[in-house]
Amino acid sequence: MAKKSQATWGGRFTAGPAELMQRFSESVSFDRRLAPFDIVGSKAHSAMLAHVGLITAKERDAIHAGLDALLAEIEAGKFIWDARLEDVHMNLEQALTRRVPAAAKLHTARSRNDQVATDMRLFFKYACAALGEKIVGAQRALLAVADANRDVLIPGYTHLQRAQPVYFAHHLFAWLEMLERDRARLAEAAAHANWCPLGAGALAGTTLPIDREFTAVALGFTDAKGRPQVTQNSMDAVADRDLHVEFAAACALFGVHISRIAEDLILWTSAEFRFAGLPDAFCTGSSLMPQKKNSDSCELLRGKSARLQGNLHTLLTLAKGLPMTYNRDLQEDKPPVFDSFDQSVLCADVLAGTVAGLTVNRARCAAAVSDPALLATDLADYLVMKGVPFREAHHAVGAVVRLAENGAVALNELSTAEVQKVHAAFGPDWAEVFDLKRALARRAGTGMPGPAQVARQFIRWKKLLK
Ligand code: ARG
Repeated sequence: MAKKSQATWGGRFTAGPAELMQRFSESVSFDRRLAPFDIVGSKAHSAMLAHVGLITAKERDAIHAGLDALLAEIEAGKFIWDARLEDVHMNLEQALTRRVPAAAKLHTARSRNDQVATDMRLFFKYACAALGEKIVGAQRALLAVADANRDVLIPGYTHLQRAQPVYFAHHLFAWLEMLERDRARLAEAAAHANWCPLGAGALAGTTLPIDREFTAVALGFTDAKGRPQVTQNSMDAVADRDLHVEFAAACALFGVHISRIAEDLILWTSAEFRFAGLPDAFCTGSSLMPQKKNSDSCELLRGKSARLQGNLHTLLTLAKGLPMTYNRDLQEDKPPVFDSFDQSVLCADVLAGTVAGLTVNRARCAAAVSDPALLATDLADYLVMKGVPFREAHHAVGAVVRLAENGAVALNELSTAEVQKVHAAFGPDWAEVFDLKRALARRAGTGMPGPAQVARQFIRWKKLLK
């Protein structure tokens, strides 16, 4: 039985693996999704073998035709995967060899170690680009809501206490910045993946006269000028899993960001805030309480972020302390990577969908932001402009706030005489500070929430997310 289903190494073995061992050690149940990458890798590898004369052009063509047929079969869902053949590589190789005798030469100068390293690098390049596009989709949805509510002001918070007024758009732009860095991290992970490991062999290359650069170019492992990029150390090429960690880390950080976005949305759509409403399509009800409309999509976004962090931890722990080079432990590197990718893609889509249906309650926002206490800092700045040292100004405004609180009046309802008793530098114009529009307009520096800056950011984001 070993000879039959494990022809790859059957020569060395007299007995096949126990059924339990087969179930324990198979990876085809999850690595079969690497098939398209494995197949392009095999096409490039066989093209190279023909290029250097290790196989004939006829053998190459037969292998290519066989691989194309396999891919078509897989895509049509007709290919039968066999767990006894362990992984995607051996399933494909054996299916191919059954049909194309020349395929017995395909594994020349190649090990599953450099093969799986290649497959994963091709996967990372694909996944980083695909997830990046999904994040752009979420960013576009956020930009559209910001645009539809350009003139809306809300309180900005620290410690979840009302702090200072900001444009609603400015708050959403903060999220766009976070997501933009997530995209940059993914692009960087893709750049790190862009080195071809084929030729590293099991760990020590090959004695055969291969052309690594040929394969690298065929697979698109090239720099901006089209020059081949091949890994520079055969042991590193098959041993390290830092790319997996980088990818999972980028996903985990994306998860942290979307969970913060989700949390703000949950707060804003609660009865306590009522700044916004979530679309029915992304909420669910309660099986008991008929009045409930729960923000499940946001809560799940928050929850998924825990899972993304868990995947990162799995990978870090997996690679830690392993002796060089390949160890079978490393087969466990794929489920967390695929899960991070799948869940991140879903999260980006769900965030886009949720945000696209967000309705902003302008009246509630206006009421919340009209609290004059939000401009207490502006009042201190007013004193600073009159020459008062900031610490003294801060103290004086604190006393004014207390005065208002004791009298149970709003900050701007105190009389000029009253505030002048606190500090002589308050002039008759002191209450003009509480003009919200003016207060915002004064926040004119780059990155600040003033209207001119927000307008600039709209132009910037529209260009970036076109
Ligand atoms: N399925 C294996 C993995 O993903 C492929 C590499 C197997 N290499 C080996 N030396 N057994 O790790």
